[in-house]
Amino acid sequence: MFETLKPQPADKILQLMQMFKDDPRDDKVDLGVGVYKDATGLTPVMRAIKAAEHRLWEEQTTKTYVGLAGDPAFSDAMIAMVLGDAVPRSQVAAAATPGGTGAVRQAFELVKMANPNVRVFVSDPTWPNHLTILKYLGIETVTYRYFDAETRGVDFGAMLEDLQAARKGDVILLHGCCHNPTGANLNPIEWQAVIDLLNRSGATPMIDLAYQGFGDGLEEDAAATRQVASSVPETLIAASCSKNFGIYRERTGLLMVVSGNEAARGLNQDTLAFLNRQNYSFPPDHGARLVTMILNDAALRADWAAELEAVRLSMLDLRRQLADELQRLTGSDRFSFLAQHRGMFSRLGCGPDLVEKMRKDHGIYMVSDSRMNIAGLNARTIPILANAIVESGV
Ligand code: LMR
Repeated sequence: MFETLKPQPADKILQLMQMFKDDPRDDKVDLGVGVYKDATGLTPVMRAIKAAEHRLWEEQTTKTYVGLAGDPAFSDAMIAMVLGDAVPRSQVAAAATPGGTGAVRQAFELVKMANPNVRVFVSDPTWPNHLTILKYLGIETVTYRYFDAETRGVDFGAMLEDLQAARKGDVILLHGCCHNPTGANLNPIEWQAVIDLLNRSGATPMIDLAYQGFGDGLEEDAAATRQVASSVPETLIAASCSKNFGIYRERTGLLMVVSGNEAARGLNQDTLAFLNRQNYSFPPDHGARLVTMILNDAALRADWAAELEAVRLSMLDLRRQLADELQRLTGSDRFSFLAQHRGMFSRLGCGPDLVEKMRKDHGIYMVSDSRMNIAGLNARTIPILANAIVESGV
């Protein structure tokens, strides 16, 4: 029967990972997949994770099932980290998921259950997997303009104009911080304008929060999500622990549904548990348990927050170094946007031909839309990249 299958398009980020592996050059530079790397190129296990794993190994007495929505203690700890006291806990339904992608997938399934004709508005560009999951689920996608190719910031006027088309029963997908793939983000005044639009149109916001702590700080990066969740009747939030806890392969995420009252929360909670059961039954527990231990232990939490902050500052430093080097080489400020972008990524803003040229001539690997993983850089490779950018005529 399987001869009827058709080849599926390769994921361009994962394809790039393979191309990098296959490249024999010693001086190649990997700016592809969104994984944090330290100055030696290692993606370390965070100290607090190691300590929690050690403690878990000693203390855990059973591996029996937990609950369809995962351990409620994980939900509580994550909801507090993401939402603070912006909304009452009693109005938030939540279910653990396999990573942030699992939360995104379950969120899309949920909105389709609620409205089979839902349209999901996505930024142009957005994380490619958003688009492929939506397509796979047969959900209509509407793109809204987002990235300004000239300034490499957000074209907010165009974004608002396009979002006027959203109405009740539609979903507007927003990146809570550290926009992937551009690195360009809304400011608080712009977020407020989006909230006003949401309230006027009745559309439901869905916030993908995959990089909390990588932009301006743990609290700062949650500010927009809190602002939205406390201002509109319903909000979906897909949170990932992959990056900020460095537990990529443990697949740890949480889907939250914020509603206006406690009765709605009950139905949402039951539906999330049902959806988990249909798709994979119980969600993975190991990473979620480590995160819970860290967030609920003052010493572990302080150590984790300090390490995360060091990671954040190191990426900011790399951004500044790259912008400075390009300023030095070109004598102009046209790359200063690199220091203004936040998070792991920056979109350089050149075409796929120049991206390919940089790969061929200089062994620099970035996604074909010119997204660079800033964390893939170090003091040695910054001049190599800056030189490649200038030589290729970006
Ligand atoms: C990325 O955008 O590179 C990451 O979110 C990893 C992935 O799964 O694509």
